[in-house]
Amino acid sequence: MLFRNWERVDDRWPPVVRVADHTGAPHLLVTRHALVRQVLADPATFRPDNALDAVTPVPVAALRVLASYGFRLPPTLANNGTASHPAIRAVVAEALHPTRVAAQRDWLAGLVRERVAGLAANLAAGGRVDLYAGLAADLPLLVLARLVQLPPAATDTVKRFARAALELFWAPVDADRQHELAHTVGRFHTVLRDFAVTGGGLAKSLRDAGQPADSVVGALFFLLVAGQETTSQFLTLLLHRLAGEPAVLAGLADGSVGVDDVVEEGLRLVPPIVTWRRRAALNTTVAGVPVPAGSSVVLWLAAAGRDPAVVARTDQFVPGQPGSRRHLAFGAGAHRCVGAQLARMETAVVVEQAVPLLTGAEVVRAPWSPDNLSFRMPDALVIRRPPPDTAPAG
Ligand code: HEM
Repeated sequence: MLFRNWERVDDRWPPVVRVADHTGAPHLLVTRHALVRQVLADPATFRPDNALDAVTPVPVAALRVLASYGFRLPPTLANNGTASHPAIRAVVAEALHPTRVAAQRDWLAGLVRERVAGLAANLAAGGRVDLYAGLAADLPLLVLARLVQLPPAATDTVKRFARAALELFWAPVDADRQHELAHTVGRFHTVLRDFAVTGGGLAKSLRDAGQPADSVVGALFFLLVAGQETTSQFLTLLLHRLAGEPAVLAGLADGSVGVDDVVEEGLRLVPPIVTWRRRAALNTTVAGVPVPAGSSVVLWLAAAGRDPAVVARTDQFVPGQPGSRRHLAFGAGAHRCVGAQLARMETAVVVEQAVPLLTGAEVVRAPWSPDNLSFRMPDALVIRRPPPDTAPAG
């Protein structure tokens, strides 16, 4: 169940559940909002060190492949419980400052407008359109590249690398696949290493702040995965959910529903990161359950968003309902997502403009998500306009 946990959100789970993964390794799954928050807020007891650990141990052959590319992932951002974290985070936060994010809004809105016009024309001509490909896959990467300057690699190369990293570190995978993924991840790591030494933008800011090359590579590595893939996934999941919420679409169209409320309710109900990990630094307890030092603690962010202690209508999409914004989709505490404002802005721009596409549309193919501990990774979301004789009345 650990690998398709978005399908199992249910408030009948005990607050803390002992589970074993596909390798037999034990984890403690924390299912309640207050407890997830409590763990996130206490990095001294629950360290973030295991955030990027491979959930399927990487065999020696694949480790050799990674080593052949000089791959290293020292504690940098999400997996950094050391004293270097605040300084690295501060440089990244500056690059993603809300003022800089807001300055990208008009540019993004223009691009989305063009894309939506093309998709609308296809739909009007009776075609099928894939909203993942058209509105979700590359837009977050394009914005991130403008904000922080990224290595000059083609969009599909970066997407392939990022998805390979999500699979290598968070999926149940076999040895052959690990070998293949190690090549994809390792190859791109060499691109990042060159860019860390010579690149401008965020790479230069980190160097200027005295960060060693390994930290710069680590920060770029994490940003390229977390800073765009997550938002692509969220856009796909949210557009899919909205396709089945005609009242919300009507409210967005007539202005009675605010787009920011829709984004927050989306983060609560369809977060792209369903769980996040911590490791117990000492013998402790969660809700009275003993947690030995070294335990992997899996925080069920998706379940926290549907905790009846926080929202009344747990499974319904009700923008603005009390508690809607108290989701933990971005984590909490010292490692809380530093790109939250960016993700929110991008999603608001896309949702606002996608309303006419989604209104009255039929989902021909819902996105499918592969097994993964933390990331949804949905694929295509294909819609069409139903032919006139099958269109719903009104
Ligand atoms: C909907 C989209 C996103 C979601 C759901 C999301 C979620 C998360 C979560 C759950 C964490 C871990 C928080 C914790 O440990 O408490 C995190 C960390 C982080 N995220 Fe995001 N994220 C998103 C988008 C972004 C974007 C757009 C960026 C940057 C461009 C970004 C950059 C980061 C960074 C740098 C960290 C590590 C922060 C640290 O350890 O200090 N994320 N994110």
